[in-house]
Order: sequence, then C-alpha cells, then structure tokens
Amino acid sequence: MTSPPCPTVPLANGLQIPILGLGTSHDGGYSHDAVLYALRECGVRHIDTARRYGCEAQLGVAVRESAIPREDLWITTKLWPGDYGGLAAKQACHASRTRLGVEYLDLFLMHWPDCMVAGRSNREVRAETWRALEELYDDGVCRAIGVSNFLIPHLEELKEDCGIIPHVNQVEFHPFQQPWGLVQYCQDQGIVFQGYCPLAKGEALSHPQIQRLAAKYGRTPAQICIRWSIQNGIVTIPKSTKKDRIKENCQVFAFCLEPDDAAALTALHDGRHVGWDPTHVM
Ligand SMILES: NC(=O)c1ccc[n+]([C@@H]2O[C@H](COP(=O)([O-])OP(=O)(O)OC[C@H]3O[C@@H](n4cnc5c(N)ncnc54)[C@H](OP(=O)(O)O)[C@@H]3O)[C@@H](O)[C@H]2O)c1
Repeated sequence: MTSPPCPTVPLANGLQIPILGLGTSHDGGYSHDAVLYALRECGVRHIDTARRYGCEAQLGVAVRESAIPREDLWITTKLWPGDYGGLAAKQACHASRTRLGVEYLDLFLMHWPDCMVAGRSNREVRAETWRALEELYDDGVCRAIGVSNFLIPHLEELKEDCGIIPHVNQVEFHPFQQPWGLVQYCQDQGIVFQGYCPLAKGEALSHPQIQRLAAKYGRTPAQICIRWSIQNGIVTIPKSTKKDRIKENCQVFAFCLEPDDAAALTALHDGRHVGWDPTHVM
C-alpha cells in the first residue's frame, strides 16, 4: 500500500481527486499485470486513460479483477476530437463507459482543442461538444468534466459560450515544461491543473541536476520529478508498464524537497514539449 495515503485535491464541485494517478498509454503497450499490481499492491486509486489509447476495455477487466469498490476509484477517460459534436460526444462517452464496465466516469475530458471539422470553427465545435459534456454531468454520467491541452484563449471562449467552467485542465507539465501562466489562470478560475508526462517521457531522468537531487535525498530521479509536481500542488499521472517502477513512483509522500531544491527544478524550464503543443490551435 502507498504509505502515507495519497492526498487529494478538491475540485470546484467538491469532489476530491487523488493527487497521484497511474497513466496508461498506447505508446509502449498496456500491461495488465502492472495495472493490477498498482491497484492491489501500491494503493493506486486514480487511473488516467483515453479512448485514443485503446486500452479502456482491458482496464475495465483489471478494475473488476482488482475487486476494489467502484466508489474508491477515480477513473478518467477522454473524448477524442473525431467524436466531437453534441450527439457524437454523448455516444462516445457511453461507449467509453461500456468498455470500462462502469456506470459513471469520475472525469471525462475533451482531449485536444483542435476539432478538425471541415467548414466549422473550432470554437463552435468545442462549445457544442462542451454542452454535451455539461448534460452528461447534469445527468450524473460524469461526476466531473474537463478539458486537456486547452490554453487560456480556448478556456476564455468556453467560458463565454457555455455554462460550466471545466473542473480540470490536463496539460503537459514537468521540469522542462512549466506553463505557469496557465497554471495561475486555472487556479484563478477554480480549474484544477493536472500535469501529464511528469517524467518528460523519461527525458528528465538523466538530467544531472535531477540525478544530483536523487542522490541527495536517497531517492530516484523519477521520485524527485513526481514529488516536485506534487509539492507544486499539481495532480500528476506518471505512466509505467513495469511493477517495480510503479511501486517506486508511488513512494513519494514520505519525503519533502527543500525550497532551494524545488527552486532548482523550477529553473530547468526550457519550454520543450515531449508531447503535442497546442499553441497554434485557434
Ligand atoms: N492528455 C494528453 O494529451 C496526454 C498526453 C500524454 C500523456 N498523457 C497521460 O499522461 C500519462 C503519463 O505520460 P507519459 O507516459 O507520456 O510520460 P511520463 O509519465 O513522463 O513517462 C513515461 C515514461 O517513463 C518511463 N518510466 C516510468 N516510471 C519510471 C521510473 N520510475 N524509472 C524509469 N523510467 C520510468 C516509462 O517507461 P516504462 O513504461 O517502460 O516503465 C515511460 O517510457 C500517460 O500515460 C497518459 O495517461 C496525457
């Protein structure tokens, strides 16, 4: 079990999201045994997936095999732009829910701000899609709704066009990519900022400064990166398909980075993206 237990972060609607979750991905494959191990042995209660990753059905099997009560789990999945639009978004949500084998989703995210619909503006399609998510939320099918890779202009437009402010914005966040302006905006608007790729897809683990801190604290570079995200109050979802690494990534609550060391990590920002960059999506 994770010890001490995983802290949570409150959403604007009063729900509590665990600050640490397990990422899943199509890249590198899906490891059923590793997910089961995370749930059964590491105390993981928060799992991040997406229709795009193609592993919702397998994840649903793992959740059932784990025998963890549904109400103890936080399950996030995402809506792919190919499913944007009012009716399509609702159908895709129900299809994800069915693949996962759950009655409700804890968090449903619009995956990407570019809608890729010929002849219609992104703004119009995002708003129509978001209204469908609002209805799914009102119906209790999604306990929270949010967006991913949305920047301030996308969020401002959504605020003008729709009723509910997203509960969460999931964005790339690691020592090399720290969008503090967006983090601050989200905090000001009551949107929980969730960071993905906390290890910069592994790129951060060989950085000399991070290795120096790992040696200083007797921890691993991955633990230093995850701890730094958590100390910044950022919900984080490292992915591993390996049991020993999942266990390692969960052991981040019994130590604390000193302010100078946290600042040294903050100084590593160089603007690089290891994922996709939404800057030019209008
Ligand atoms: N919303 C979005 O657009 C979006 C985009 C990207 C990712 N995400 C989410 O964020 C999650 C995490 O992102 P990510 O997987 O791209 O990047 P990441 O978590 O920063 O890094 C994962 C990589 O690090 C390796 N790794 C994990 N733990 C390690 C450890 N303790 N020591 C050494 N290597 C370790 C993994 O390899 P092994 O698996 O071989 O251990 C994998 O190659 C994803 O799973 C997904 O749920 C969301």
